[in-house]
Parts: sequence; C-alpha cells; structure tokens
Amino acid sequence: MSIWAIIGIILGVIILIFVVVWIIGHSGSSDSEILKPDGAITGKALVVYDPGLSGGTKTAATYMAEDLTTKGYEVKLASVKSGNLSDLSGYNFLIVGSPTYGAKPTEPITSYLNSLENQNNITAGVFALSAGDKQDAEIVMKGILENKSITVKVAVKYGNSAFGLSADRSKCSNFVSQVLA
Ligand SMILES: Cc1cc2nc3c(=O)[nH]c(=O)nc-3n(C[C@H](O)[C@H](O)[C@H](O)COP(=O)(O)O)c2cc1C
Repeated sequence: MSIWAIIGIILGVIILIFVVVWIIGHSGSSDSEILKPDGAITGKALVVYDPGLSGGTKTAATYMAEDLTTKGYEVKLASVKSGNLSDLSGYNFLIVGSPTYGAKPTEPITSYLNSLENQNNITAGVFALSAGDKQDAEIVMKGILENKSITVKVAVKYGNSAFGLSADRSKCSNFVSQVLA
C-alpha cells in the first residue's frame, strides 16, 4: 500500500471521528416543547434534561413532564442544549436530569446549574441515570442548586434502564409527587 493511501485512510478516520463527535454533541440540541394540562393551570414547571447517548434521561424527563401535566402544570420540557433556560421567573418547580458520565453529571448540565441565579421562590428535584450505584451525580447536582439557595426536595439515582416500562413511568410519577409535596 502506498504512503498516500495510508495518509488518505488516516485522514478519513479523523474526519469520521469529527463527524461522529459533532453529531453526538448536537443531537437533541433544539428539543424544547410546551406541554399543557387538559384543565385549568395550577402552576408552571421547567423540566431540563441532557439527552445523553442512549436516551434514558430524556425518556424519564418526558414521563415526569407528562405526569406534571396530569397534575395541572404547564411544563416546558427542554434539552439543556436548546439554550435560554436560565431565566426561572414564572416557574414554581424545576426538574433537572442528567446521565452519569465519568462519575459526574454531564458538562452541559453542570454548566447549566452553575449558570442559574440565586433563587428562593422555586422548588427543585434532580435525578441522574447511572450504570452503578457508587457515584452520586445527583448529589453533585443538588449541591450546586443548594449553593444558589434553591430548595431541592428530591435527589434520586436511577439505574440505566431504557425507561420504557410502565414501572418506570410510575417511578417518575412518584418523583414528581415528592417534588410537589
Ligand atoms: C461514555 C460513558 C461514560 C459513563 N460513565 C459512567 C460513570 O462514570 N458512572 C456510572 O455510574 N455510569 C456511567 N455511564 C453509564 C450511564 O450513566 C448510563 O448508561 C445512563 O443510563 C446513560 O444515560 P442516557 O440513557 O440518558 O444516555 C457511562 C456511560 C457512557 C456511555
């Protein structure tokens, strides 16, 4: 094989790696939607998630947002990458979910939590998905919010299930009930 063929293969692999990293970095970046309850609006909630690589965090966040609507809340359900989520005025509740990567919440979630202003009129719940039970990304998230004077009622770690089962939906509903309690 000629030297040019080898250089071509190496360049091709480098370009492929850049494309894959770009796609992962931008996946779910624009996802943001407003979910409304059927009846009267009791209050407003913001549910922010990092879409992660395998989608479990997004599914859990979606279940929580849907459950909030059945409890009368108008919900903004947004990927942390959709931007403009730092203004919490008008929201009664904040829920933030992150996958655990490298023993921590993801960098976009950590930056987002750090970007929030001090608040004492909003109640939060945080959750992390994790392959094991040795790391506490949710406790890290809770700590950042509490440093902003935000009350964190619930901080939960879930296993890395696909979050597709009705049992998972019920776990998410319990989470929401504890945040609202
Ligand atoms: C690159 C990578 C790093 C991970 N690092 C950890 C880790 O340090 N600790 C852990 O408990 N789980 C770790 N996991 C497992 C994920 O937290 C777990 O699969 C989670 O469900 C991913 O969330 P998602 O479905 O929203 O992507 C890692 C997974 C990946 C892909």
